[in-house]
Amino acid sequence: MKVKNCLIFGGSGQIGSFLIRKLTKNNFRVTVVTRNIHQKGLKIKTQANAGYINIVEANIFEEEKIEKLFSQADYCINLVGILYEKRRGNTFKNIHSIFPKILSKLCKRYNLENFIHISALGINEAIDSKYANSKLEGEKSILENFPKSIILRPSIVFSNSDNFSTLFMTLLSRLPIFPLYYSGKTKFMPIHCSDLTDIIYHIISKGTETQIIECVGPETLTFKEILEILLSLINKKRLLIPFPLTIAKLSAKFFQLLPKPLLTEDQLRLLKYDNIISGKYKTNSDIGLPSKLYFKDEVKKYSYMWRDGGEFSTEKYKFGDKEEKN
Ligand SMILES: NC(=O)c1ccc[n+]([C@@H]2O[C@H](COP(=O)([O-])OP(=O)(O)OC[C@H]3O[C@@H](n4cnc5c(N)ncnc54)[C@H](OP(=O)(O)O)[C@@H]3O)[C@@H](O)[C@H]2O)c1
Repeated sequence: MKVKNCLIFGGSGQIGSFLIRKLTKNNFRVTVVTRNIHQKGLKIKTQANAGYINIVEANIFEEEKIEKLFSQADYCINLVGILYEKRRGNTFKNIHSIFPKILSKLCKRYNLENFIHISALGINEAIDSKYANSKLEGEKSILENFPKSIILRPSIVFSNSDNFSTLFMTLLSRLPIFPLYYSGKTKFMPIHCSDLTDIIYHIISKGTETQIIECVGPETLTFKEILEILLSLINKKRLLIPFPLTIAKLSAKFFQLLPKPLLTEDQLRLLKYDNIISGKYKTNSDIGLPSKLYFKDEVKKYSYMWRDGGEFSTEKYKFGDKEEKN
């Protein structure tokens, strides 16, 4: 059987690493495009067996260079995304709207078997968020240009290499108090990264008729519940304080000046909306791929690094015992 080639954009990130491992283990050959091979090459290369992976350095808007890669590809997967805008063209419009449009046109021109694009959950509802609107615009162009594309809309994606559970455990372990925006009532349905990449793998290997799939984990948790789970996992007690919106807005204004902002005004707007299934689209469960991994069980496996003593702590063994007795 001919080995299939997957062309992946944004493959050096959290979802990319899990996906490269999943695909190459299952005999897909992968080409990963990165902006900086010197920085990301080793990480990408070590996700796969030699011979199954090829890394190409390119600016994602170097159309000529990118186009050449499509002639060899059977599938294209777009994982490129940003949480906040930066200077030098790193805008939501460029990354979430224009770039997917370019990719979908190339998928059509080279008649690829499929284009899988990772969008985000809740973007129809978050009408005043620039992030959400740019993702929506990108989806629209994709479906116009290459209607057989599959769009996945995940809720928060977590894993040991995420920028979510790990960041919050760091902040919770260092800060004496923690702000709750919108009283911590915003709901999420966190999905483990390996459950999400199983869905992508299934779609590539078996196909699906569904164009837009909402990808969620097995439970619904409020922001406050998520923080409480993380606090219990790192054995810390912290004051979770509801922040009035005016103070939240002021802090976002300040944070977004930092090179890696903890919170931006746009993220604050996004946080107003529950990040849960809409009921308007099929979910991963509806297509027979329910997510199995629970937030607390999975984070527990790596949370000991944030407990007193970190990796040298024997707490991780004690913690397991305590849990079993309860
Ligand atoms: N993680 C979540 O909770 C979550 C939830 C919903 C949706 N999503 C979506 O899922 C996708 C993948 O998420 P992820 O968590 O794997 O993201 P990630 O870890 O931040 O990785 C994203 C990748 O995109 C590339 N990238 C970032 N900015 C870029 C730019 N300006 N130009 C070109 N490439 C750029 C980077 O690749 P190089 O540095 O190698 O070029 C990076 O490895 C994104 O579209 C995201 O919006 C994620």
